[in-house]
Formats: sequence, C-alpha cells, structure tokens
Amino acid sequence: MRILSGVQPSGTLHLGNYFGMMKPAIELQNQGEAFLFIADYHALTTVHDGAKLREYVRNVAVDFLACGLDPSKTAFFRQSDITAIGELSWILSTVTPMGLLERCHSFKDKIARGISPSHGLFAYPVLMAADILAYDSDLVPVGRDQKQHVEVTRDIAIKMNEIYNAGFKLPEPRIRQDTALVPGLDGQKMSKSYGNTIELFMDEKPLRKRVMGIVSDSTPVESPKNTENSTILQLFRAVASPEAVAQMEAEFRSGGVGYGDFKKRLFATIWETFEPMRSRRAELLAAPDYVDSILKSGAEKANAVANAVLHRVRTAVGLR
Ligand code: TRP
Repeated sequence: MRILSGVQPSGTLHLGNYFGMMKPAIELQNQGEAFLFIADYHALTTVHDGAKLREYVRNVAVDFLACGLDPSKTAFFRQSDITAIGELSWILSTVTPMGLLERCHSFKDKIARGISPSHGLFAYPVLMAADILAYDSDLVPVGRDQKQHVEVTRDIAIKMNEIYNAGFKLPEPRIRQDTALVPGLDGQKMSKSYGNTIELFMDEKPLRKRVMGIVSDSTPVESPKNTENSTILQLFRAVASPEAVAQMEAEFRSGGVGYGDFKKRLFATIWETFEPMRSRRAELLAAPDYVDSILKSGAEKANAVANAVLHRVRTAVGLR
C-alpha cells in the first residue's frame, strides 16, 4: 500500500503541529510504503519571498528528520524536485471543470482571509491532484480541511479514466482525527493565526516564559481545581507519562498546589520531551549537505515512480 502526504512549509512548527500532523506523518513509515514531501509549489501561493521560502523549506526538512522521520523507510523529498508534477498538473487541469474548483472551501476561506485570488490559488487542488496521482497513491492522510481536495482528486482521476482510460487508482483520504487536540496559551486550539502557540524548538528562557503565560483561572492555591478545560492539564496530557498525568490530576482535585507549580512542571516536561530532538536538530542544522542528500535520494525514488506515471498519461492523452 502506497501512502502519500505533503506538508506545506509555513514557518516555525509548534506543539499543535507536532501532535496533530508531524507525529502521525512520521508514523506512516511503519504502515506502508510512505512518500512524504515538502509542498513548496503550494507554498508559493501564499509565500512571496524567496529567502523566506528557502528558510521554511529547510526548517521543515530539518524538523522532520530531527523528530524521527527515517529516510530509509519514508521517501522524503521536495515537491519541486519532481519534474513530472508541473506537466501532470497542466494535463489534469484540462479536464477539471471550473465549477469543481469554484466549490472548494479552502479557496473561498483563503480569499475571505485576504489572500489575493491568484490563478495558482484557484488551481491549488489540481496541483494537489497531480501530487497524489503521480505516485498511484492508495492512501492520503490529511487534515480535515484537506478532505475536499482529495475528493476533487478522485473526481479528476475518474474523468481522466473515462476520457482517456488513464489507469488512475482512486486514492482514499484518511482524515487525521483531532484527538490530540492541543490548546494554545489562551485555551483555544493552538494555531499560528491565533498567536497562542508554543514553538517546538524554542530556547529555554522564552519557552519558560510562554508556558508561565498560560491563562488559568483565579482558584487559590489551597483550593481544589477544575480538571476539565484546564489548558495546563491538556498540554500536560500531550507530553507527560500517564503516571505523571494521574499525579497532576490528583493534585488538581486535592488542592494545595498552585497553577504556577503546575506550569513549572509542564515546562520541565516539554523541555525534557524534546531534548533528544533538540540535539539532533542542532546536528542537522550544522550538516546542510547531509539534509540535502536525504532530500535528493527521496526525490530520485519519487521521480522514478512519477516519470513512469507521466509516460503512461502522455501516451493516453496523445502527447506521445
Ligand atoms: N495542501 C496540503 C496542506 O496544506 C499539503 C499537500 C499538498 C498535500 N499536496 C498534497 C497533502 C498531496 C496530501 C497530498 O496540508
């Protein structure tokens, strides 16, 4: 079974990204033949600064490797290294009905947020269809917001098969459950757009400051505290061992420990949890050639598959 997913390089990763997207993406390597790419062509629809894009791409690559992506199991590569994607995207666009793209929520949402409605933004789902179909992918794990794009991909594949007998597999979306819902400092979902994030690889001092700034209620130290809807506890559950969580819950209920102490414990646990990844990351940052070589060999593997698919499609549509 071939599993494919892409991540957009969009700045610094936070705890919400880690538990919601990265960790599950890394675990795909034990569930089938995994392909994971950095969607730099997609990022161009919103990032219009070359230096920034380069930096973002480098950061995602380093962060995934630091957090345990095993390049001997997962083909890890950059989207723009796959030469077939641009051409396949064009071919697919010629059978994609305008109406199908006009109905996409993601496009409408982005415009509503003030992103300029470029052709690239409109055609974003077609590019994504090219990503998915280029590898004859069986399974596509995505966040809930991307489900519609996988459905569009299926519609495009069906059209290509009907018109040209192009032999595309119909990919199945697998929607990541938001179970590891990670709240931000203010208790809302952790998200860059809410400005309530805790970045994965912050330095010690700013991290401590961030954690100490978590919003809590004014229950006095000696009183029992509410274990439901506590941001501190929810974050602690994401990082700490079950025993440590049970201990903190008991202390919430009994009273006698203040939020400040709980936050210190949360800070220490976050710091320790990511310690091995932090040192691995420092090594990787010092070895850019090594990171490049990983992406290069991932691209070789992906290109071999994508070129064969493109050849099939070119022949089916009559370009060859
Ligand atoms: N659009 C996806 C996102 O923002 C990233 C992506 C691009 C992707 N191409 C893909 C995901 C192909 C899965 C398959 O999350």
